[in-house]
Amino acid sequence: MTQNPITSDNCKICDKELIKFLSLGQMPIANALVKKEDLSKKEFFYPLDIGFCPSCYTVQMFTIIPYEMYLRLDENQKRNYVFFSSTSEVMKQHFKEWADEIDKSYLKQDSLVIDIGSNDGILLQNFNKNKFKVLGIEPAHNVAEVARSKGINTITDYITETIAKEVVNKFGKARVIASANVILNIADLNELMRCINILLEEEGIFTFEDPYLPVILENNTYDQFYDEHIYYFTAHSIKNLVERYNMEIFDAKFQNVHGGSMRFYVKRKSNKNIKISENVNTILKKEKDIGIDSGKAYQSFNKNVQQNKNDLIVLLKKLKSEGKRIVGYGAASKGTIVTNFCKLTPSIIDYISDNTPAKQGLYYPGVHIPIVTPEKFHEDNSDYALVFAWNHIKEIMNKEQDYINKGGKFIIPFPNVQILP
Ligand code: TMP
Ligand code: ZN
Repeated sequence: MTQNPITSDNCKICDKELIKFLSLGQMPIANALVKKEDLSKKEFFYPLDIGFCPSCYTVQMFTIIPYEMYLRLDENQKRNYVFFSSTSEVMKQHFKEWADEIDKSYLKQDSLVIDIGSNDGILLQNFNKNKFKVLGIEPAHNVAEVARSKGINTITDYITETIAKEVVNKFGKARVIASANVILNIADLNELMRCINILLEEEGIFTFEDPYLPVILENNTYDQFYDEHIYYFTAHSIKNLVERYNMEIFDAKFQNVHGGSMRFYVKRKSNKNIKISENVNTILKKEKDIGIDSGKAYQSFNKNVQQNKNDLIVLLKKLKSEGKRIVGYGAASKGTIVTNFCKLTPSIIDYISDNTPAKQGLYYPGVHIPIVTPEKFHEDNSDYALVFAWNHIKEIMNKEQDYINKGGKFIIPFPNVQILP
């Protein structure tokens, strides 16, 4: 695997030339949080350009940032990922419900469930280990260690054909392969599908969820585009991808997480025991209506994004001119994009509060806003908190009633810039 970014004008799945529809300029790696002593060192930036493939409809980055650039090695040569899935109570519940559904609808006694990119075990922890076998495949050592401490068998590696064959030899084939917010990070989706083919039982299912492109387009959430996210899926693009491997989508369900995700359910075409839900055609038709296949869907996005950026800058500058103090809430990867695209430096955003210990004390890449603990945020009585983790806004407002009662307000950037409450 290479240490350098790879830029290509062609589709990474079918090799057709891409049509560019968005440029966010030079961006740092979203999760490359900077240590204080490294603030004067040169950071890595790449051009964040997004295009659509007119042949297989996959929307994608022109530049692939290799895993090595964001799964940083620590002093013991262990890969570290800064994001622990279980920091959100809402997400814990979300994954519990998904596990319950998989358990009831698809599993039999002793079935194997595999989670690709299993993080700290947020999905697999919900399965009854006396009834089923679970296996996580997770390249980052620190999060995999947390999963193992919960008793979840975890292979600390990237998913490759070699690993897939080893898994089958050791554990057998999987009844269910699940994956959340990971498939979109995998540069070679053809290789991933070959792995699925190796791993999946004849009657097994592959289910995964990732941010859903039509919602990104509708809500102007350009901050979903960052280095780790190479792909932005639709039913159109997934249909094309899985059909290359004699598989088909048999269901798709919208999920109200990460700003709007789609959960796809895929099976082998040869498996006639599962029938294809009406949802699939309904979603394909809706996508066609907005022009996901013709390119019409992307035409006004660039303009809307520029407008959103302007609106945010105008509001923040107005508040500053009135002497208000503005901080950030949730040092999400998405916030690196918003702050760098809108050039929000510590002269506008004093600091960002985040409940992940691994992020506290570090600085946002590019703009160098310091990340602090929620305790500091609670002591500090700022006037406005710009929420970068806007997908968790309900959870955040529920737990920050004291801030609101003291007159604090939240700003969320999408779909339009708004002040709450
Ligand atoms: P995410 O949007 O990718 O899930 O990242 C959310 C970030 O926000 C993560 O670093 C944790 C942080 N966070 C808080 O600091 N407080 C909260 O209440 C929530 C829900 C998230
Ligand atoms: Zn293509």
